[in-house]
Amino acid sequence: MRVAIIGGTGKEGFGLAMRWARAGVDIIIGSRDAQRAQDAAGKANAAVGAPRVTGMLNPAAAAEADIVLISVPFEGHRAMVADLKDAMAGKVLVDITVPVAFGGVPAVVPVPEGSAAEAAQKLLGPRTPVVAAFQTIPAHLLADAEKPLEGDVFICGDDAQAKARVVELVQQIGTRAIDCGPLSQTHTLERMTVLLLYLNRRLKRRSLTYRLVGL
Ligand SMILES: NC(=O)c1ccc[n+]([C@@H]2O[C@H](COP(=O)([O-])OP(=O)(O)OC[C@H]3O[C@@H](n4cnc5c(N)ncnc54)[C@H](OP(=O)(O)O)[C@@H]3O)[C@@H](O)[C@H]2O)c1
Repeated sequence: MRVAIIGGTGKEGFGLAMRWARAGVDIIIGSRDAQRAQDAAGKANAAVGAPRVTGMLNPAAAAEADIVLISVPFEGHRAMVADLKDAMAGKVLVDITVPVAFGGVPAVVPVPEGSAAEAAQKLLGPRTPVVAAFQTIPAHLLADAEKPLEGDVFICGDDAQAKARVVELVQQIGTRAIDCGPLSQTHTLERMTVLLLYLNRRLKRRSLTYRLVGL
């Protein structure tokens, strides 16, 4: 299985690339710039000590992979999903986007479709099931690749098979996936993330995350 990470040169995507590469998953880092993608792949391979990561332009990365994860800022999300629509047909899209406005108290930016993941699903249609995941996992915790992740990964989606594949990917980086129901629940994950951002700021922390107890 190959996983493409669109925007994998950035903070969250690169952390996920490193975690999966360490776990033996083949990764393609996508970028708007081929050289940036290759440089990021080289850095990941050097850190992992094995040639598990390649770098390509985003459309080629999406076309080559079995599963595509989009990790670009909300501002670029809609256009990127639309650009990659054909390349992603028949594949699963993992959407980690949080539409957030920083400033005073962090707030979710309203999305007409309900959430960023639902906007992606509407653009892509049924040929590409979308699974929302990883919203509440901060990038710097992923980057500390030697340290086990404590946070649960909450996932939402309408396609059971697609969700099962994402559960497997979550388990490969050594943490738990909690199925939170249909894609229409994603707005809750977005709000949970914004709450974390606020609490991190108020309590002067960086690493707050969620883990369910009592399971
Ligand atoms: N950072 C976190 O802790 C965190 C946690 C959970 C979820 N998320 C979500 O993960 C996504 C990525 O976050 P991040 O912090 O990794 O972002 P980032 O580092 O600012 O950006 C990620 C990558 O996206 C590409 N990019 C930037 N602007 C773009 C645009 N307008 N259109 C297309 N591509 C663009 C860039 O890659 P190239 O220039 O190489 O193309 C960049 O390296 C966001 O949707 C965020 O809400 C982040």
